[in-house]
Amino acid sequence: MSADLAISLNDKRLKIYELLKKGYSGEKIAKTLGISRSAVWKFVEKLRSLGYEIDRNYNILSIPDPSPLDAALCSKKLGVERFLYFEEVDSTNNVAKKEERSCVLAKRQSAGRGRLGRKWESKEGGLYFSFEFPRKVPAVKAHRVTILIGLVVAKTLENFKAKIKWPNDVLIEGKKVSGILCELVGEELSSRVIVGVGINVKNELPEELKDKATTLKTYNVSVTDVFCSFANTFSEIVNLEWNRILEEWKRMLDTIGKEVEVRVGGEIYRGVALNVDDEGALILKCGDKIERIFSGECFYM
Ligand code: BTN
Repeated sequence: MSADLAISLNDKRLKIYELLKKGYSGEKIAKTLGISRSAVWKFVEKLRSLGYEIDRNYNILSIPDPSPLDAALCSKKLGVERFLYFEEVDSTNNVAKKEERSCVLAKRQSAGRGRLGRKWESKEGGLYFSFEFPRKVPAVKAHRVTILIGLVVAKTLENFKAKIKWPNDVLIEGKKVSGILCELVGEELSSRVIVGVGINVKNELPEELKDKATTLKTYNVSVTDVFCSFANTFSEIVNLEWNRILEEWKRMLDTIGKEVEVRVGGEIYRGVALNVDDEGALILKCGDKIERIFSGECFYM
């Protein structure tokens, strides 16, 4: 599968786009950037092929959603060097694994993957992207990245009353709106972390998911806006101390105090979620026993 747009984040074409948005003429763009008018024309043709409506005077009449160029500009905040956009791809995580220091965004996925080997519904209208976390991480600390990303998603959607269900599902009014799939590549002591995020924005959900999943449809937001807001929030949080991240994450967690069932491999634990520890593990009171659970699937009873 080849990308519909693959661009380095210091490519001059991003500047062309910014100047087009400011209403500059082809001639003025060429002059400002020291490039030929035919280079501008060629890029305008590329934009048209990506779904941007641009008239003969280079006025932008309409912008597609997601807007690959706006997303590329925002992806600078994720600490990546390259941006790839696909109208359709199997899974953005698969591409991001192969492309170092990249952010990969797709309009739809033909084989979107969820946690525990599940499928992730990825119809047009949702936000599906993956990127390489800007630092390498020892495998034993990878759960911290997942927690951080859960917090970023929850904060991105805070105005829509988003909450986190342990360990990292983001819910609105009790229904899942986003999922995170972090995958490790490379060595145990210093792994690349591929962060995959799916957010239901205005995609149609299949009937069988409607009682447990939700979208942002009623809020009338664009896929591009949600992506850019994620990238901004990420840049504000990524360098905070672990304790601060954990504290913020706990503030947005709505699992504490609830009666839950947690499935870990073949084991099932039922009890009351008492707290989370310093690494985000769930402290569960199961009858007289206290269990400490690192990861698993959690259901509210
Ligand atoms: C979950 O099961 O909750 C995790 C879902 C993660 C879905 C995202 S969509 C973008 C990226 N590409 C994938 O194939 N999966 C992740």
